[in-house]
Amino acid sequence: MNKLEQLYEGKAKKVFATDDPNLCIVSYKDDATAFNGQKKGTILGKGAINNRLTNYFMKLLEEKGIPTHFVEELNDTDAVVKKVQIVPLEVIIRNISAGSFAQRFGVEEGIVFEQPTIEFSYKCDELNDPLMNAYHAIALKLATPEEIDTIKKYAFAVNEALKEFWKSVGVTLVDFKLEFGRLPDGTIILADEISPDTARLWDSKTGEKLDKDRFRRDLGGVEDAYKEVLRRVLGQ
Ligand code: TMP
Repeated sequence: MNKLEQLYEGKAKKVFATDDPNLCIVSYKDDATAFNGQKKGTILGKGAINNRLTNYFMKLLEEKGIPTHFVEELNDTDAVVKKVQIVPLEVIIRNISAGSFAQRFGVEEGIVFEQPTIEFSYKCDELNDPLMNAYHAIALKLATPEEIDTIKKYAFAVNEALKEFWKSVGVTLVDFKLEFGRLPDGTIILADEISPDTARLWDSKTGEKLDKDRFRRDLGGVEDAYKEVLRRVLGQ
């Protein structure tokens, strides 16, 4: 499968057309941004790590009955995925208080919730990805009520599968962001990535942060944290 024209370039990935109109190639970059692109940097090796991690998790989730866009890994940084129309919502699940939740509600990080929370942000850089509820998303025709129900069901199912997996490798899944897409027939499937860029991962024993917060907060050891996550997941 060959890359044809570039369809899109985001902050961390590029998407290319292929000779199959139903498939794209996603290419993961080492570029890192935070705070809606205000902070920029490079995390060496991140593209390859996030590609391999995402592909691993997409396969795991398919086995658990969650439909995903994943088709096959092409090489270190590239994967073939089904072409979808992205639903412009960032779907965030939280198991433990951290990040914008802790800031918004004036609580410390690390409060373990009895039940996970879900929230949506409107994927719109110009507006700084504003928080919105399901009624707002429906009013703006970003998704139908049925699509919101499906997205919620899949997002909580992803959380259960990933929480269990991460626990088995000594990592606490604090929170994460998902994106969903529509196939041409309207079917909702999981898209985008699942990586330390899009999740908070804390070492279960030490509480050490093993995710992009090391970059966002200038904690140092960014590359080593990504490598450690890859080692925990794939044993390498
Ligand atoms: P937050 O606490 O900053 O709202 O982030 C919640 C989760 O979503 C965290 O795991 C990081 C992830 N995330 C993204 O993947 N992309 C983003 O643009 C933001 C702001 C957060």
